[in-house]
Formats: sequence, structure tokens, C-alpha cells
Amino acid sequence: MIMLGIETSCDETAAALVEDGRKVLSNVVASQIEEHKIYGGVVPEIASRRHSEAISAVVGEALAQSGRSLSDVSAIAATCAPGLIGALLVGVNFAKGLALSAGLPLVPVHHLRGHIAANYLCHPNLEPPFLCLVASGGHSHIVMVHSYTRLEVLARTRDDAAGEAFDKAARAMGIPYPGGVELDRIAEAGDPRAYALPHPRVEGSPLDFSFSGLKTAALNLLHNAAQKGQTVRVPDLCASYRRAVVDCLMESFRAAALETGAQRLAAAGGVSANRLLRRELEGLSRELGRPLYIPELSLCGDNGAMIAAQGYYEYQAGHRAGMGLNAAPQWEIGADFP
Ligand code: KG4
Ligand code: ZN
Repeated sequence: MIMLGIETSCDETAAALVEDGRKVLSNVVASQIEEHKIYGGVVPEIASRRHSEAISAVVGEALAQSGRSLSDVSAIAATCAPGLIGALLVGVNFAKGLALSAGLPLVPVHHLRGHIAANYLCHPNLEPPFLCLVASGGHSHIVMVHSYTRLEVLARTRDDAAGEAFDKAARAMGIPYPGGVELDRIAEAGDPRAYALPHPRVEGSPLDFSFSGLKTAALNLLHNAAQKGQTVRVPDLCASYRRAVVDCLMESFRAAALETGAQRLAAAGGVSANRLLRRELEGLSRELGRPLYIPELSLCGDNGAMIAAQGYYEYQAGHRAGMGLNAAPQWEIGADFP
């Protein structure tokens, strides 16, 4: 069965065709990053406009690159949550129009479930249950994936997401948006012990994350240095900061792996591209003797293939939407579609 996946939750207009939830036939991503860069972050109104301009061509290109036509497609999956409401609505409404005109079923997909499903595209043998660290620009969760469509959140961030923490610290160091990628690259040449930064924990909720204190500590360090006319060694600060963020993620993920006894470990979301995080996850996997699944780099960020993959499993579970489908920014990853 061929699923068309449509993704417009943030700053990437994306569409893809995926066969049986596992095989990518095409995957087209039109990024708006260059346009948002000058503002240091995503401007929602600009994002919606660019999605509106790009969506038709991106879906057309996904069909063309797959070598299939719309008549080969069995259903259309669209990201409904979470994300920027105006951006989500572009993809949702385009999917509705196309589904109506082509007489195809419509499947609502949660963006973070999609990130997790990127692993199904890269690892043909991976099946639930598994424990997944999901870290993106907007969310940081530890999720027990009981089945393809039954997910339980074991931990979440109390404030900033890991990706956001990377981006904001990077911005303060003068690294352009989205700084997480570049901070990671620069950190490779730095000394992670050079600057002492806090590793905040959430009292009473040992698995939860909190990154705002760490981010503030980095910003204060930069301000203090500027006031005193001292130079900050950027590679060292990048390395120290990355070490602290990854330690926070790993401490909780390790504890969750031990607590749940999960036999398979996974990671997903934009931050799962982080070099140090990938090395640390591989180390944990070796130490516990449990296999690790992470998407290849090209599928860690936002894309339509992951939405089509998850859409396939939602479709198999009987999940459908009618023409009343709306974006649902408050939809929780563990809940059924509202
Ligand atoms: O999942 P994603 O593409 O979009 C959202 O759903 O938010 O994640 C984007 C986030 C950004 O904050 C970006 O800086 C971060 O993922 N990111 C990274 C790396 N690559 C992307 N953060 C740290 N290291 C990386 N290599
Ligand atoms: Zn994402």
C-alpha cells in the first residue's frame, strides 16, 4: 500500500511516498531555513506563506520522483500536531483537498510519532515494543512505544526542548539559526571540561528534563565575559554545553532503560543527529547489551517519509479523518487523535 505523507509543521515543506510503511519511494523536502535565518528563528507568518507557495510543487515532485501517479496512492497522511498552527493548516488543508478530489482516505499523524517512525524506514527489523528518546526543536520526551499506535510518555521537558536549548545558546554565541547543527560541529574541536555548567534535574521527577537553567547559565557566562572584556573560547563552550545537554538526556534515558527493562533502545527527532548523543547512545547500547535504533542523518530532521510511515500504521489501526479535519496543536503523542 502506498501512502502519501505531507509535513508542514514548522519550517520544512515536505512530501513523500512510502510503500507499506517501510520503503521510501520518494522524499522531497523544501527548507525555508535560509529565509528564517535573518530573524534568528522561525517567523510563523512567513512559514505559513512559504508552505502555501511550495506545497503543491513539493507534492507534485514527490509523485514525480517516485515514478508513480496519484492513482497508485492508497491514502494521504498529514501532520496535524504539534507545530505552528498556521503552518500545520497549510498541509492539513492541502491533504483534505487532495483526498476529496482523488477520493482517498485521510489519516491524521502526530509529528513526533512520525519522528519515531523514521526508524521503521531505516531499520526493517525494528518492531515495537521499544524505548525511544525523542528530541527535537520543540519537544523532548522519553516514550515507551508499546505498539505502532500505542505510545506512553515516561518523561518530558519541563521547560525548553533540547533542540531549542542548543539553538538559543548557539544564537548567543553568534552561530546562525538553527544553531544546533553548527554548535555540534564546532564542539568536536573543543574541550568539554573547559567550562563548568549545571546539569539541572527536576526534583521529584527523576526522568524529566529541564534545560532552561543550563541555557541561562551559558548566556550568563557569555554576558559576564563580555562585560569583563574576556574572550570566550567558542569551541570549548560549545563542547562543554553539548556535554551538559547530552548528559541530561542520557541520564534520564539510561534510568528509563533500566527502570522499564526495555530490550530495544531508539532515538528520534532533529537532535538525534547530534554526534555526541549518537556516540553516547551507542555506548549505552553496548553496555546494556540491547540493540539501538537511530534514523540515518537524512531522516532525523523533518520530512514527509516519516509521516507516511507512521500514517501507514495509523491507517492499519483504522484511524481516519473526515473533511472536518483540523490541525490539533494540543494533541498529545500518547493520546488518540482528539
Ligand atoms: O525534529 P526537527 O527537525 O524539527 C522539530 O520538530 O523541531 O528538530 C530541529 C532541531 C533544531 O533545534 C536543531 O538545532 C536540532 O534539531 N538539531 C541538532 C542537530 N541537528 C539538528 N541539535 C544538535 N545537534 C545536531 N547535530
Ligand atoms: Zn520535527
